[in-house]
Amino acid sequence: MGRLVYVAFPLIISFAVFSLCQGVAAAAAPPHPNLQWHYYEFNTTCRYAEEYVRHQVKLIYDHDKSITAKLLRLVYSDCFVTGCDASILLDEGPNPEKRAPQNRGLGGFVLIDKIKTVLESRCPGIVSCADILHLAARDAVKMAGAPGYPVFTGRKDGMKSDAASVDLPSPSISWQDALTYFKSRDLDVIDLTTLLGAHTLGQTHCSHIVDRLYNHSGTGNSDPSMDATFRDYMRKLCPPKTKKGQHDPLVFLNPESGSDYTFRESYYNRILRDEAVLEIDQQLLNGDDTKEIIGEFADGFEDFRRTFAESMYKMGNINILTGNQGQIRQNCRFTNKGNPN
Ligand SMILES: *[C@@H]1O[C@H](CO)[C@@H](O)[C@H](O)[C@H]1NC(C)=O
Ligand SMILES: *[C@@H]1O[C@H](CO)[C@@H](O)[C@H](O)[C@H]1NC(C)=O
Repeated sequence: MGRLVYVAFPLIISFAVFSLCQGVAAAAAPPHPNLQWHYYEFNTTCRYAEEYVRHQVKLIYDHDKSITAKLLRLVYSDCFVTGCDASILLDEGPNPEKRAPQNRGLGGFVLIDKIKTVLESRCPGIVSCADILHLAARDAVKMAGAPGYPVFTGRKDGMKSDAASVDLPSPSISWQDALTYFKSRDLDVIDLTTLLGAHTLGQTHCSHIVDRLYNHSGTGNSDPSMDATFRDYMRKLCPPKTKKGQHDPLVFLNPESGSDYTFRESYYNRILRDEAVLEIDQQLLNGDDTKEIIGEFADGFEDFRRTFAESMYKMGNINILTGNQGQIRQNCRFTNKGNPN
């Protein structure tokens, strides 16, 4: 089992259950003939690449637990747009992906740079930025309480990045549109329901929920699918309008686990109680199939953890580059040709 953030199709329940029980076992075969389990250990002279990555992630994680949410968002922003080619990391070009409005507030770049510097000093030119991003996210997810999942390695880095290619949906997207978007990347309703669980440790700007709190669909009222007590609590955090010069406040997507950045089943329990922050999260309760999956995750945290691993694995395999399709960047912010150093 395992999936991430945007899906919505009438799924046959038996499939959902089957998939849940298959767990990570379904992920046992390499996704691509040129990717390899522990590629750096067995096929390169950089035997300890994965250990170097884990060590650097741990150093950061010990004093900044928000790194898990940041890395998850980076993986999502990278993989869904032109595939898992580390294009999100590039500073190069007139308008790189990281400058797209949907990518506002992305973080974690400094950690990736740090890991790359360490790896280039130990074994220059061997470990791709695309693999570093996935290994680091996997390690951080594990530190935050979800299980590790297989990251097959050997990805190459892409050589272009253009904000115009960024079609990531806004956090205020509907559930149906999110599912359509996920399906366009070969992810399914389980992936969407599961990957949305990453909201258990994320934050969002009030601007994405003020309509829900004060003027839902132009009705002048709040979203009726939101518990009234919870709505009043959220209204205190998010005023109807931010005054000129005042910045758009950030709120935790799961008030119960947000500040400690750990994976919890409470994200799913809150949806069952009409206490989801984002409308897309609350809408998961509207589909028969998604409602079933939520009930399963709310009851069985292990199911969620394992499914999450599988969905991360699937997301990590979207349009990867191998062989001559890409390169190993020396600096994750620049292609080798554009590297100023
Ligand atoms: C890596 O090494 C293994 C064992 O030597 C080999 O079977 C495999 O084909 C190699 N993979 C790549 C991508 O070079
Ligand atoms: C609510 O939204 C509608 C449609 O966007 C708008 O016409 C109306 O003025 C809004 N009401 C308030 C109280 O802001």
